[in-house]
Amino acid sequence: VRDWWRWMRDNDPVNWDGRYGAWHVFRYADVVPVLAEPLIFSSDLSELVPPQPEVELFNRGNFARMDPPRHDKLRRLVSRAFTPRVVADLAPRITAVTQELLDAVAGEPEFDLVTALAYPLPVTVIAELLGVPTSDRALFRTWADALLTQPLPDRMVPDEESMRLRAAPLGDMIDYLLAHIRARRAAPRDDLTSQLIAAEVDGERLVDDEIVGFVGLLLIAGHITTTTLLTNTALSLDEHPDAARDLRADRSLVPSALEEVLRDRAPFPRLARVAMHDAAVGTRTIPAGQILNLWIGSANHDEREFRDAGTFDIRRHPNPHLTFGHGIHFCLGAPLARLEAAIAVPILLDRCTDLVVADGAELFDARVMAGARRLPMAAVWS
Ligand code: HEM
Repeated sequence: VRDWWRWMRDNDPVNWDGRYGAWHVFRYADVVPVLAEPLIFSSDLSELVPPQPEVELFNRGNFARMDPPRHDKLRRLVSRAFTPRVVADLAPRITAVTQELLDAVAGEPEFDLVTALAYPLPVTVIAELLGVPTSDRALFRTWADALLTQPLPDRMVPDEESMRLRAAPLGDMIDYLLAHIRARRAAPRDDLTSQLIAAEVDGERLVDDEIVGFVGLLLIAGHITTTTLLTNTALSLDEHPDAARDLRADRSLVPSALEEVLRDRAPFPRLARVAMHDAAVGTRTIPAGQILNLWIGSANHDEREFRDAGTFDIRRHPNPHLTFGHGIHFCLGAPLARLEAAIAVPILLDRCTDLVVADGAELFDARVMAGARRLPMAAVWS
């Protein structure tokens, strides 16, 4: 996919794809202005996606796919729970969960990083925040897989077949979350779900149907992406042994190394918007109603923005990658994802004096998601 991105950046940076009826945008300087104008380039694709009553509820509270003013109001309800200061208080718990998970595989000469750590760590943290039982995490994984099922990766809007495949697991997720919300409504606890039930928007409380999408968004967005950040860190360090050695020698490089992994392997390489009226992007005019694929994965490798864009540099500074998006939809969970990785990676390096990717890795389709579904690692434990 990187060769395709480079070719497109150089030769056809704002490209009309007639086959799928959508635009592709590849350069950093073209992607950023689109993300900065949410009223011209909308996140609400609902008119373009085939209607799907089974999962309608999931969309009602999903503010990632909403525009202002509704987006801003819903986002404000949870934003306080994700500020860097609030998130920092989770550090002891993240450390404890990481240690426990690694205790369970310690000494094994080979283990799957996804099953051992990269999946259960973020899902445990977000499930605890929301107050849903961590023991159900196998279920959450089924739902996350369903949401990520996209048989036609070139296509922005899922087709009817893939929508149908997603419907059953998403229906289950909605039922599960509704039951959770009802339980908290009856007996509130100290968790985000109870806070959402109690919250007011314009003097009104959210109804259960809205809270479902909200909680579902946090649950899914809150773990699968961080899972890939952890696997991507292992993949990058394996690919660049010099960087791995430097990182082992100097742990103060962890934050900038993680930013470089985020730049180099953006978990979601593509964001979608729809033009609300005719609008210029680069030298082209996008007609109203048409979809844009914003390839942040490509923008992150744009030589016009990043010096030595093709080099993996764990000391890169500044590193204004677009992996968490840009503008009003900038990832709400970025402080949490960064903290989880900044805690887990050094612990992993401390406990494994040698760690290399073994045979049998299963990677996602890089056009949809950068990361591993399965990542066997050969380890020497300290
Ligand atoms: C939004 C990426 C972790 C919750 C976004 C967006 C991106 C992104 C690119 C913007 C989408 C758009 O503009 O259309 C990532 C990556 C992560 C990560 C790469 C990990 C490495 C998390 C975590 C949480 C989370 C841990 C939850 C706690 C959200 C939410 C939004 C969002 C709620 C919607 C924000 C809005 O629309 O205002 N994320 N995310 N993300 N992310 Fe993340």
